[in-house]
Amino acid sequence: MTQTIEQFGAECRAILKQDSGPDGVEQVRLGLEKVLVDETILATHLGPAADSERNILYEDPELKFCIIAHVFKGGAKDGPPHNHGSTWAIYGQAAGITEMTEYRVIQAPADGKPGKVEPIKTYRMTPGTATAYDVGQVHSQKRESETSLIRIEGKNLKLIKRAPFERV
Ligand SMILES: [Fe+2]
Repeated sequence: MTQTIEQFGAECRAILKQDSGPDGVEQVRLGLEKVLVDETILATHLGPAADSERNILYEDPELKFCIIAHVFKGGAKDGPPHNHGSTWAIYGQAAGITEMTEYRVIQAPADGKPGKVEPIKTYRMTPGTATAYDVGQVHSQKRESETSLIRIEGKNLKLIKRAPFERV
């Protein structure tokens, strides 16, 4: 059954109202994997005309989570390690490949100095797969060419303060 982003947003809201912890986030991740293979949703929000690096498709008025379409054009990019401050995020790969690395925090950020992290695992995210990053989980994303994703942020990251990290 084809669903819309609004219907998916309502589904996420119902799940997260029941359980906003890791189990609820996992259920939302599984739902996102279905969205990532929904041709109507992809054509509507990530078709050839889509070119925004950050297009908020749905923002929940009460729980404040956001469903966001991202189109990353251009050449290779290796992003810095980061977490999402006080919230979680789910990355869903719609097209292209994202190489994700997860890190262990060796030293927390303090006194304006970046935290120190070391890589613990690296894997490729292929179209149709979604990965959840719990509160505090440090990760970085790398791409060789154009990608598009649908991500869900527990809260709009534009409004969240985040400390920097550096790889050791
Ligand atoms: Fe992230």
